Amino acid sequence: MADPRTTLCISATRTLESDPPRLTSGDAEHIALRNFGIEAQAESLDSERDQNFRLRSVTGKQYVLKIANAEEEPSAIEFENAVLEHIRKVAPIIPVPRIVASTANENVVVHCFKGVNYLVRCLTWLHGKCLDDVESTPDLRKQLGTELATLGRALRGLFHPAACRPLLWDIRNLAELTPWIADIENSSTQAFCARFVTSFTENTLPKLVALRCQVIYHDLHEGNVYVSDDSPPKISGIGDFGDTLYGPLICDVAVAAAYQLSAGDDPLAGVIEFVQSYNSITALECEEIDLLPDLIMARLVTSLAIASWRVRRFPENRDYIIGDMNFVTERLKALSQVPAHETIRRLREACGFHDRPDVAANQQCDEELENRRKSVFGPSFELFYDRPVNLVRGDGVWLYDSTGEVFLDAYNNVPLVGHCHPDVISALCRQAATLNTHTRYLNDAVVEYADRLLSLFPAALDRVMFSCTGSEANELAIRLARAYTGNEGVIVTRCAYHGNTTTIAELSPGDSGKETFEQWMETIPSPDTYRRAARSSISDWVQDYLDEVDLALERMHGRGVKPAALLLDCGFTSDGMFLPPPGLVTGASAKIKAAGGVLIADEVQSGFGRLGQAMWGFEVHAAEPEIVTLGKPIGNGHPLAATIMQHEILDAFTKHEHYFNTFGGNPVSSKVGLAVLNVFERDGLLQNSRETGIYLKDCLDDLAENCECIGDVRSSGLFAGLELVSDPVSKKPATDAARRIVNNMRELRILSSTEGPQQNVLKIRPPLPFGPSHVDQLVDGLKQSASICL
Ligand SMILES: Cc1ncc(COP(=O)(O)O)c(C=O)c1O
Repeated sequence: MADPRTTLCISATRTLESDPPRLTSGDAEHIALRNFGIEAQAESLDSERDQNFRLRSVTGKQYVLKIANAEEEPSAIEFENAVLEHIRKVAPIIPVPRIVASTANENVVVHCFKGVNYLVRCLTWLHGKCLDDVESTPDLRKQLGTELATLGRALRGLFHPAACRPLLWDIRNLAELTPWIADIENSSTQAFCARFVTSFTENTLPKLVALRCQVIYHDLHEGNVYVSDDSPPKISGIGDFGDTLYGPLICDVAVAAAYQLSAGDDPLAGVIEFVQSYNSITALECEEIDLLPDLIMARLVTSLAIASWRVRRFPENRDYIIGDMNFVTERLKALSQVPAHETIRRLREACGFHDRPDVAANQQCDEELENRRKSVFGPSFELFYDRPVNLVRGDGVWLYDSTGEVFLDAYNNVPLVGHCHPDVISALCRQAATLNTHTRYLNDAVVEYADRLLSLFPAALDRVMFSCTGSEANELAIRLARAYTGNEGVIVTRCAYHGNTTTIAELSPGDSGKETFEQWMETIPSPDTYRRAARSSISDWVQDYLDEVDLALERMHGRGVKPAALLLDCGFTSDGMFLPPPGLVTGASAKIKAAGGVLIADEVQSGFGRLGQAMWGFEVHAAEPEIVTLGKPIGNGHPLAATIMQHEILDAFTKHEHYFNTFGGNPVSSKVGLAVLNVFERDGLLQNSRETGIYLKDCLDDLAENCECIGDVRSSGLFAGLELVSDPVSKKPATDAARRIVNNMRELRILSSTEGPQQNVLKIRPPLPFGPSHVDQLVDGLKQSASICL
């Protein structure tokens, strides 16, 4: 049986071995007229293995007549035509030649010359100057990057059996060229190439097999690219699809990058510009980038080996071929002088991958960043921690800073299903790459998401409107409540935070610190279960609390205002993270309803299983809101929010008002929202919140027993507040100690924060994939920090 390697060499060299066709211009003119109905003058062009003629027709139009090498497989020509046809259909903007059909409507015609049948095609002429004749500029290199990436994207959907034909120029076949390396005249270059081929075959090829493949153009060099006469010039054409094949995408980049090397001070500068621009359209994977230096080198060695063989095979063309070889040898030397790890580092950086950095240098950078931040945002735009964290990456419950340190995230509730969850990211990217519009067009995803979200609520809550932030969701909720009830008044808890729009900021006394409020607003106390009078029973305390609701309604009434809504954060987060006993929320809600208002459940903090016992906080309180607002975790970090309501409420609103939100619930947001729900359900995150939550509460209770400064543990699901006091009898808030603990936790690489009007409540609210081992790490950190800081 024939050695498959030899087989490859033989079949792939046949077209190079055999002489190109030798037709005359007159023959070409004759073919053009007879087969394509084009009356033209023909002029012969250079070609490695075929014969090409430029046709200038009498109508002024120009074409290329391509006479294929007699040894060329017909399927290879079919494939080339299929590629051009595919591009015309899927990405007509890419400036490639178009196929000109013959008068018999064929894309390929057969022409018999001196007893040999040649396959002939006619293509449109690519206008512009050949890039070979134009000085390379950073702008052109960037254009090459985006153009090749765009071409690659266009070719993704194409396949043809001839895409897998053996091709000598395929870098993966480098080892086949070993015999030709002996033809390289310069002995040190020859030795270098021989060593490289061995190492490439042993180390690089096996890794290449694991990378993504598709049909790739695989020949982006200056001779195949045309640019316009504009200033600055624009790419106006890409020709010659003779080396197009099915192979690793990164080989397409490597071939093109080889021509962006320069022999100057920084040989990589052009490569970096090119790759960076390619990456801006098609993100490269780290594994691909890491192979790039070797693949670029492989292309250069391939060029040298083939050129050396051609010198031997066609000595009459020696001078012409040697010119090309000098160009390649210079670049090969330039690349071999840069250490591979340095090339990889620069390439990775250009593509947004950052290596584990020099810690001291990075800390200095972080300080500079902090100063720059201050100078643009002013001092009021707060940062967490005495030593702020510069986070650069997230993954599940883990966050990574600029120095490469790993932090356990026990604080962030927004990444509900975990930081950068791959399903969410992929849903986002796919939809962003397909379509994004506002919600005034029909779109499946938007309606599917709305249906899916509503299915998670009691049947009476049957309408949804999307927005981008919790503040907007609450703002709309207030407008809805006012339109429905015809009343204006709104009651909130004393230290509530509901958002930042004008109306909602008024309704956020915990944030504004205001003592006097709008005449339409009233507050009721924070439901402080910890500071209720020691001797009163729970039920007495609840009754006292409900009396406060009556008092608020009376005060409002006294000003001639009727209540539209009681707006409650079901986790009472900024009030200090309280979980009041049954009867408190339902009692307060009954009172507001009796007075003509509605209950708005703000689930921005307490929703999506946060409290472990149920999907929504209002269910934990057994309350029946007429309106519910959702935000933060709903989009796992993507700006998405929703207001859910009964249809009667929406009907009343739409009689007099309308609502439009340009970005709210757009197709990308909807796909993200759907992906979040899919992961949430598939990974059983409600159950995890409940089960890990029980373990968390046990651990925190144990901790509190041994630490009298932890006055109270308020914990449900993965939502926990530890109230720190300087003395358990007076319950004086230990604000300073809380701040020190949070800072010490940061040094232990665990993220937490404080909450409550006195900022003395340690706030634990991690992404929901938080498991028991994470709880152990958190509680160990708390124990250690409490022993140092209290
Ligand atoms: C309970 C509650 N409601 C509403 C909001 C406002 O959400 P956003 O910041 O997305 O406007 C917040 C934000 O912290 C919140 O905690």
